[in-house]
Amino acid sequence: MALMPWNNELVLGIPSLDEQHQTLVTHINALGAELGRPAADAKALSHILEDLVDAAMNHFIAEEELLNRHGHPQADAHSKGHSGETSSLVQLLDQVHADAGALGLEKLAQLKDWLTRHIQVDDRAAVALLMSKGAA
Ligand SMILES: [Fe+2]
Ligand SMILES: [Fe+2]
Repeated sequence: MALMPWNNELVLGIPSLDEQHQTLVTHINALGAELGRPAADAKALSHILEDLVDAAMNHFIAEEELLNRHGHPQADAHSKGHSGETSSLVQLLDQVHADAGALGLEKLAQLKDWLTRHIQVDDRAAVALLMSKGAA
């Protein structure tokens, strides 16, 4: 069973964003699978986390571009939220680069909570207005 199964609660209805979110979920699940192995490989964990951070940053750019293109009134506030998320992700990446053992189940649970909140709370609120403007 995947740590974070993809389900309808995570679908926002804008295919490009849903696809990008699904990729992020896949990376979280890959971290969960690696950590679940009897001898989790520190290098593999670090690489997956790098892929996750990379995909998240590209996703933030795409999402902000979409909000700006549609003149979303909360575009700036949403971008600021992404900046905070980026800082946390880069901080975790720095920790893991300094000490591969820093990425344990607790940090993984935090990543899962972050992505769930990002999609279900922050993005769902932003997307509601885009949908009403026919962005999907
Ligand atoms: Fe998003
Ligand atoms: Fe977002």
